[in-house]
Amino acid sequence: MTSSLTIFGHRGSSGTHPENTLISFQAAHKAGANGIELDVQLTKDGVPVVIHDERVDRTTNGVGWVKDYLYDELIRLDAGHFFSSRFQGTTIPSLEEVLEWIASTSLSLNIELKTGYVSYDGIEDKVLSLLNHYQLKDRCIISSFNHYSVKNIAQKDSHIETAILLMEKLVEPWNYLKSVGAHGLHIEWQAIDEFLMAHTQKRGIPVRAYTVNDRKEILKAQKLGCDAIFSDFPASSIQSF
Ligand code: G3P
Ligand code: MG
Repeated sequence: MTSSLTIFGHRGSSGTHPENTLISFQAAHKAGANGIELDVQLTKDGVPVVIHDERVDRTTNGVGWVKDYLYDELIRLDAGHFFSSRFQGTTIPSLEEVLEWIASTSLSLNIELKTGYVSYDGIEDKVLSLLNHYQLKDRCIISSFNHYSVKNIAQKDSHIETAILLMEKLVEPWNYLKSVGAHGLHIEWQAIDEFLMAHTQKRGIPVRAYTVNDRKEILKAQKLGCDAIFSDFPASSIQSF
């Protein structure tokens, strides 16, 4: 690849495999992605697990809220069949399982704390403790749409890289970032323009764009000077260059 654009597999290789599962992360790795992005929530008994929605209904054969499942109950759900019968029997991974595997690779990692609707008391401490245990802090970025969560992480550990998630443009996000204590911006790709890039680059603020799958959009993100993209199809994204 000739580009300096970092490719994160969004929920792994979620365009080709069931999102946020070990098999999806391994597919992104095999495709040559530089890193993976994943979403974390807590079970009823406080285990960090990797799943995007607050409810299990869309991606598993279960119903209800992640927060209402014990870990032992959650891992009995099928998290592959919704995508294709080929993946029947795939389960929701714990964050620990994924980190253990990542530690055996050189992948970068973006952990998104899904604390937008459910606050998940103590999630920040649990995630930091697992990252310390697997010695992955120096290749992990923690992000969230809940900027209180990001601030909490930044206050607990000034060494870990953090980013705020934005769906839309924000007035002077570089100033707002300082008030949160975060390092970077993870932003919906259509909200990125030359003005934002000029101001962030001047200040050394990394800008990473989600979710960028189309070749033209990837080349645009690269031309604008984004540091990274999150792609559902890391294999074809890499071939775009
Ligand atoms: O972290 C980038 C992206 O994953 C944010 O949106 O809804 O896909 O988690 P979402
Ligand atoms: Mg996410």
